[in-house]
Amino acid sequence: MPTLGEVLDEKEICICAGSGGVGKTTTSAAIAVGMASRGLKVCVLTIDPAKRLADSLGMEELGNEARQVDPALFERQGVEMKGELWAMMLDPKQTFDELIARQAPDEESRDRVLENRIYQQISNALAGSQEYMAMEKLFELHTEGEFDLLVLDTPPTRNALDFLDAPKRLTQFIEGRSLKVFMKPTGLAAKVAGRGASVALSVFKRIVGFDLIADLAEFFNAFSGMVDGFQARAKRVNKLLSDPGTCFLVVCGPQGEPIDEAVYFHRKLVEAKLPFGGVIVNKVHYPAEQLRGDAVEDLPAALTEKLGDADLAQRVAANFADYQALAERDARNIEHLASELRTQSVIRVPYLDEDVHDLAGLAEIDRYLFATSEERVEMAAGRA
Ligand SMILES: Nc1ncnc2c1ncn2[C@@H]1O[C@H](COP(=O)(O)OP(=O)(O)OP(=O)(O)O)[C@@H](O)[C@H]1O
Ligand SMILES: [Mg+2]
Repeated sequence: MPTLGEVLDEKEICICAGSGGVGKTTTSAAIAVGMASRGLKVCVLTIDPAKRLADSLGMEELGNEARQVDPALFERQGVEMKGELWAMMLDPKQTFDELIARQAPDEESRDRVLENRIYQQISNALAGSQEYMAMEKLFELHTEGEFDLLVLDTPPTRNALDFLDAPKRLTQFIEGRSLKVFMKPTGLAAKVAGRGASVALSVFKRIVGFDLIADLAEFFNAFSGMVDGFQARAKRVNKLLSDPGTCFLVVCGPQGEPIDEAVYFHRKLVEAKLPFGGVIVNKVHYPAEQLRGDAVEDLPAALTEKLGDADLAQRVAANFADYQALAERDARNIEHLASELRTQSVIRVPYLDEDVHDLAGLAEIDRYLFATSEERVEMAAGRA
């Protein structure tokens, strides 16, 4: 089984997808650190990272553009860095604005859209805009070609698949009937903008106020000039996602439900002919091998001797038994996952004692992410 380093070796894009809270942001950051430390120029596009993680990467004041993480940070935290790590926090609204600016035929139409109140509402609320904008940014950075590898964190969608459908949804929105009605030369927009507004419309205007209608009409008029550009772009984004240089990693937790979601997500990737790179099970309870076997039988006694408190020893022993039960459950779930995916390439990352909030924590995650097969066996047995 190839190591993650080998899987990602010739890749230009790595997308970490999975359901909410499983560790996508942490994993993306750790992968970026790992590949950069191996000598690549890597940029991680992250979404809403925990504040402490962002702070520790010096990202607190990141805008919608990539910045290099200070190499001195790695030295200070004892992480060897042969390449360069760049990071950016995705700002969907800003990306949408930039996209409009790029697609607009001239400055005047650009400003007309950007200043339009309807646009301001839509750009904030457009379904899937966060997912779509993540991919827009990815596409843009890939086209610029500044980096060896782009690692994309994905937003906490209820359903990991929303993310895959995002380009399609935007195209559908643009091609959709509501927009068409507005954008036809004889459509509502033209009627509103024209002088011969119907009685019905004038009533409507009185009810909702003229400005809303005018804004709406103006927005759709201005937007209509950009539809072709959007469609072409959404197609190119889709193409990039299925490129062999792209690799999807499915991140999940070891419990039943996240495992089922990962199985489902994997199947959808295969159906959509998108390149699947592997699955990462995060927050796994590893069995504590050292304490297994005979020792467990006498654990309360052994603990009482050590702790000098029988009551406490009982509780610690019970706790330990619970933990072992969790570890066994996780192992069963992971076995199920591997057989469903017909792969042995399941990477396990343990539930660390502490939140992952600095480079040292990410480096610890990397020990597991980038381990060789032999190292994985050792680690899974709790011996490493
Ligand atoms: N292996 C781990 N051990 C311990 N804590 C972890 C581990 N992986 C992630 N965490 C912690 O779990 C929390 C959630 O992780 P993270 O933000 O990466 O999840 P996410 O999938 O990006 O969530 P969301 O779907 O909300 O974006 C963070 O506080 C992180 O530090
Ligand atoms: Mg996240």
